[in-house]
Amino acid sequence: MNLLPASLLLPQRTVAAEGAVLRLTNLAAEFGSSGVLVHGCSLQRSELLDAILNEPPFGMRVRAWRHAGNEPTVDAVDALRADLKADRPDWVAAVGGGSVIDLAKAAAGLLDAPENTAFYQMHPASIPPAALPLIAAPTTAGTGAEATVVSVLTDPSRTVKQSIRHPSYMPRLVILDPCLLRCCPSNTRAAAGFDAFVQAFESYTSLHATPFTRVLSELALTRIARALLPFYQGNSDLAGEMLEASYLAGVALSHARLGIIHGLAHPLGVRFNVAHGLACACCLPACLAFNRKAVARDLNTLKSQHGLDVEAQIAMWMTAMELKNPFAGQQVTDREAFIRETLASGSTAANPRPVTADDVSSLLDTILEKTATTPA
Ligand SMILES: [Fe+2]
Repeated sequence: MNLLPASLLLPQRTVAAEGAVLRLTNLAAEFGSSGVLVHGCSLQRSELLDAILNEPPFGMRVRAWRHAGNEPTVDAVDALRADLKADRPDWVAAVGGGSVIDLAKAAAGLLDAPENTAFYQMHPASIPPAALPLIAAPTTAGTGAEATVVSVLTDPSRTVKQSIRHPSYMPRLVILDPCLLRCCPSNTRAAAGFDAFVQAFESYTSLHATPFTRVLSELALTRIARALLPFYQGNSDLAGEMLEASYLAGVALSHARLGIIHGLAHPLGVRFNVAHGLACACCLPACLAFNRKAVARDLNTLKSQHGLDVEAQIAMWMTAMELKNPFAGQQVTDREAFIRETLASGSTAANPRPVTADDVSSLLDTILEKTATTPA
């Protein structure tokens, strides 16, 4: 067998249709008659939250829980776990961006776990199977978190961003509804789209890529290349295309893993509070130069078969969206810890070229240079 990943794990059901999120409570009925809907601020501001919660099936109790925003932290997961324990629902639904989905995924997963969330970041072998089923409906396109078993969480007390994962954390039901992306602001469209694009690229070139995942990565890359700029500029007709592409990139990375761009983007993002997708885009040129020999054939394939030049594409977007590299001219004061975190990352381990401590240090220098080779 060499077409499929050794183990294929997908959401049990994916409903992709305009307006499907309005059927969330009906679709959730198979998991039980009480649920908690976790969401962000933007859903609350729109009329969609009320519309989703309006008229649940007879006998069903659903309440909303609002995530205050920002990247999800281990403390926010602990707070949601405590809240869920109070009435122990039958299911949890996350309707939001990657932060909301990661938060709900970890809280539903760890509901019955005896230790706090930070413990499981440090002791991944102790993570128990998920306590509650998760429904995920993304409002950005995006992290692909709706199609993975991973929850990426920040622990501010240790200044780290680490994932927790378990095969049972895969959402049982995914709803891909373009109407959820209509209110997504342009800066979020850009950052989320960069993340999806870089995830598609890194899963395409990863050490663990298989023909199955490469087809998905390629589909995602070409669609995002075509759709992201007009979507950023306000063409919401492309929301469905972007949603499908980020979902496919999520399935691909879930099986193929990523690479050094994500290995660097997480510790950089947490130190400088930079949106994850923008951090990925800014790390891409230096990392592509580092990997160029190892991925030469893939770059040629993308160019000759799809007319896609990955580096030029990112540079064009950064210029068109008037974005700058926020790392240029910055200092990392804890370089040893930074290098340790990057080398310990599962993304770094999947990079197509082996990465040493000296490599990380020199990549960091390039990314932090005042006149860094940035896409801007
Ligand atoms: Fe990412």
